[in-house]
Amino acid sequence: MAFNEVIAPDETQRFAAFATEIAAMQQQAARGKPGPLRVLHVKQHLGMVGTLAVKAAESLRAGVFTAERSYPVYVRLSNGAGRPQADGAPDVRGFAIKLVGVTGKKLIPELADAQTQDFLFINDPVIPFRTPDEFMAFQRAAKHHPLTLLPRLIGAFGVGRAFAIVGSALRSPKVRSYATHAFHTAAPLALGAVAAKLALFPLPSPEVPAARGAGYLRTDIISRIEAGPLSWALRAQLFIDDRTTPIEDTSIAWTGPWHDLGTLTIPRQDTNSPRGKEISELVSQLSFDPWHAIEAHRPLGAIMRARKVAYAASVIGRKAAPEPTTVLSP
Ligand code: HEM
Repeated sequence: MAFNEVIAPDETQRFAAFATEIAAMQQQAARGKPGPLRVLHVKQHLGMVGTLAVKAAESLRAGVFTAERSYPVYVRLSNGAGRPQADGAPDVRGFAIKLVGVTGKKLIPELADAQTQDFLFINDPVIPFRTPDEFMAFQRAAKHHPLTLLPRLIGAFGVGRAFAIVGSALRSPKVRSYATHAFHTAAPLALGAVAAKLALFPLPSPEVPAARGAGYLRTDIISRIEAGPLSWALRAQLFIDDRTTPIEDTSIAWTGPWHDLGTLTIPRQDTNSPRGKEISELVSQLSFDPWHAIEAHRPLGAIMRARKVAYAASVIGRKAAPEPTTVLSP
C-alpha cells in the first residue's frame, strides 16, 4: 500500500505561529544569560565522532543507504528539556547523528549544497503527542514550575488526555545508559519510495560500574567510550497501512519487523583531551535537524512538517555553526 501525507489547509499558518512562539521562548530563556541556547534539548551530555557503515538489503537501498560504504558522523547526546536539569528527572533523551560527505540536493533551499544528512532519535518508539498542537501545548505548560505541569496540562487538554500524556511519559523505561538502550526516530521519513521509522539498537559492549549523580548519563558514556568502541545496529521499520503504521499520528507505535541498514560505531576516544573537548564544543554549536536531508529521506507527517520551521527558528536565534564539510578525527 502506498503511504500518504494528510496536510491540513491551515497548517502553514499554524506552524509559522509555533515558530514565532519558539523564537519568543528562546529569547525569554536567554534573558540575563550570555546568549540564546537551543529551545529544547539544552543539556548536552557529550558530543563525539563516529562512523556509520551502511549495509542494507537490496529492497531498502535508497538515499544514503544505496551503496555499501561508510560515512563519518557527529553524534550529540542530550536531555530533552528546555532547561538543564539532573539526569534523574523524568525527561526525553536525545541521540542525534549527522552524516558528513552526503552528496545530492538538500531539502532546505538555503542549504541545497550542504553535505550533511541528519537523523534524530529519542529513547522511545513514540511520543505522547498526536499532533504538533499537542506538542506545543505541552511545551507551553512545561515552561513553568514542574509542580504546575499537571494542572496546566489539564487546562490545555482536559483531564483524560492530560493524564494519558503524563502516564505515557512516566511509563517510558528509564535510560540507564546510552550504550544499552534503543533510540527511535519516533516519526516517519522516506526511505526512497517507502516510508519508514528508524531506530538504533545497542550492540553488546563491555560492562562498567553503574554511574550515579546528576550527570550519570555523561559519566556512564565517558567511562564506556574510554574503555572501547560502542556500536548500535541502525534498522528500519516499514509502512504497512494507515491503521498499523500511521504517518500522521506519532503517538501510535508501528508494528512489523526491523530491517538492517547499517552499524553506527563510536570508536574509543578520550573525551577529556583537548581534541575531545574541541569535538564536544563544536557539536554543541552545530544544529541537528530532520530537514537536513536529501529528498530520499524527506521527513513525513505533521510532527515532522512542524519541525521544519521550529528548528529553523531555534537555529537562527542561537546563531548555530554552519553545516560541516568534514569530521574532526578523535
Ligand atoms: C518525533 C518527534 C521529535 C523527536 C524525535 C525530536 C528529537 C529532537 C532531538 C534529538 C533534538 C536535539 C537535537 C540536537 O542534539 O541538537 C531536538 C531538538 C529540538 N526539537 Fe525536537 N523532536 C521531535 C519533535 C519536535 C517538535 C514537534 C518540535 C516543535 C514543533 C521540536 C522542536 C525542537 C527544537 C526547537 C529543538 C532545538 C533545535 C536547535 O536549536 O538545534 N521537536 N529534537
